[in-house]
Amino acid sequence: MSIPVIAFLLLQSLLATVSAQPPNLTMALDGTCDYHSITEVVRAIPNNSLNLFRIYIKAGVYNENVVIAAEKGNVILSGDEMYKTVIISTRSQKITGHGIGDSAALSK
Ligand SMILES: *[C@@H]1O[C@H](CO)[C@@H](O)[C@H](O)[C@H]1NC(C)=O
Ligand SMILES: *[C@@H]1O[C@H](CO)[C@@H](O)[C@H](O)[C@H]1NC(C)=O
Repeated sequence: MSIPVIAFLLLQSLLATVSAQPPNLTMALDGTCDYHSITEVVRAIPNNSLNLFRIYIKAGVYNENVVIAAEKGNVILSGDEMYKTVIISTRSQKITGHGIGDSAALSK
């Protein structure tokens, strides 16, 4: 086996291992979650933790600009499906005057 193939297989098994772990926190908009936004959840993550923190975000449209601060390392966000768990935000330069660096719905 070539090195790229081995690297690919290692990455695949790492991703499979991570996604098989139960999430540390499940986010939902149906009232079953103590938090009301992904932003609140991210704030609750312990600072500077060496352990992975996986947030499972259930289907829904999350209208917020999620910023993951540098002290919140090792964070994994996972959702239901591409068109089911959606994070949107309005920070277009034309509408709100934000620059390109601030305009993504998800940023670090
Ligand atoms: C995490 O760090 C931020 C920035 O230094 C600080 O404002 C916040 O209180 C800290 N949170 C916890 C849970 O320690
Ligand atoms: C997240 O949960 C895993 C177990 O599934 C645990 O090993 C890990 O320490 C947790 N992360 C944090 C930051 O508590």
